[in-house]
Amino acid sequence: VSILSIDKYLYSMRLSDETLKDIMNRFRREMEDGLGHGTNPTATVKMLPTFVRSIPDGSEKGDFIALDLGGSNFRILRVKVTQDKKQPVQMESQVYETPDDIIHGSGTQVRALELFDHVAECLGDFMEKQKIKDKKLPVGFTFSFPCAQSNAVLVTWTKKFKASGVEGTDVVKLLNKAIKKRGDYEADIMAVVNDTVGTMMTCGFDDQRCEVGIIIGTGTNACYMEEMRHIDQVEGDEGRMCINTEWGAFGDDGSLEDLRTEFDREIDRGSINPGKQLFEKMASGMYMGELVRLILVKMAKEGLLFEGRITPELLTKGKIETKHVSGDEGLKKCMEILTRLGVEPSDEDCLAVQHVCTIVSFRSANLIAATLGGILSRLKENKGVARLRTTVGIDGSLYKMHPQYARRLHKMVRRLVPDSDVRFLLSESGSGKGAAMVTAVETFYCLLEP
Ligand code: BG6
Ligand code: GLC
Repeated sequence: VSILSIDKYLYSMRLSDETLKDIMNRFRREMEDGLGHGTNPTATVKMLPTFVRSIPDGSEKGDFIALDLGGSNFRILRVKVTQDKKQPVQMESQVYETPDDIIHGSGTQVRALELFDHVAECLGDFMEKQKIKDKKLPVGFTFSFPCAQSNAVLVTWTKKFKASGVEGTDVVKLLNKAIKKRGDYEADIMAVVNDTVGTMMTCGFDDQRCEVGIIIGTGTNACYMEEMRHIDQVEGDEGRMCINTEWGAFGDDGSLEDLRTEFDREIDRGSINPGKQLFEKMASGMYMGELVRLILVKMAKEGLLFEGRITPELLTKGKIETKHVSGDEGLKKCMEILTRLGVEPSDEDCLAVQHVCTIVSFRSANLIAATLGGILSRLKENKGVARLRTTVGIDGSLYKMHPQYARRLHKMVRRLVPDSDVRFLLSESGSGKGAAMVTAVETFYCLLEP
């Protein structure tokens, strides 16, 4: 098949500027709903207040531990922040395995505890290696899931996690309990931070203008600084507070139905959380390989690819990974991957498959440009300026690995919010540094308390 006919075949995934502007406006309404509804659980985009009121100002210092759980890696870091001008932040980190059965949980209360036992065990190992087991260092916990921040209660699991007995529970309490049970070290969990917030804070340390944090990885989400007077859920009208939008849930009330394709519906049906995180399922890394596979299956069935050959491998869930869709792999690699699936691809097939990958990943970049555009246009209005000058801190494997993704996203954002100068700042060191910054501020508040 020709490129043109694929374009036609997947027309419902190719979103016009007009449609994207429409999505941007829909998302703005969702944001307003979430801000206004207070703790009303029916708001789809939750807009969780984070109680983070400013980005780092450079005065932070101390010795911290940061836990980073919920992305593709579970990482533990030691972050030392000093007033040293040349190298204010020193970090050491280690990645720990998180076995699938612990992540997925399965029915029993025991499983939930297993997840936190595992985290506590890894933390013990890390402290041992750092030779700080006798110290009680403040810990910042980047937990990449929706949490009600006033009490660290997990609202709902997303992505690959489903350990039972955690939803509706205070994760700090669970972790403290697991640490206490061991009894071989002590830790002070000072703050639970969403990864978007950690990213904004990490970037904010280097660029004071940073007021948005976004993740495009396994999942996708964003946070930004909102005016206190617009946040009904928190008392007080002065200053600003960071809001964790949890935009992955955009569409869960049906507001994106006209844009969801048969492939999106199939992904959702086969997921561990049907009906939830519908925007995330269209845009984030965890689902992209599978979206491509479903499209290829349909095209092969209709004789548009591989001369109609369908193999058990092609029909197997998970056989095409997102890294294949987003990698800078070239035709040879594409041939290799498809050959492994047993479909005996021709050169033409490979070109066609690459084009399908481009359409799926550009749709993701376009969708995220629209929601980010919603946040930026809101910031602009909040500030009452004719032109918005701002920095967006950004992280996540899809954004970092895909060779054209970043360019596409930046271009679309500029097209959707023309009166703006947006700097996209990649978080070089993940969200751990930012979590330490939040912890630094929390520690400071604790000192003030009697
Ligand atoms: C990391 C951050 O760099 O990116 C994590 O430190 C975050 O907090 C992650 O969750 C997101 O990317 P991915 O692709 O691993 O989900
Ligand atoms: C999911 C989580 C969210 C997180 C995002 C990126 O959407 O619900 O909290 O920020 O993934 O990791």
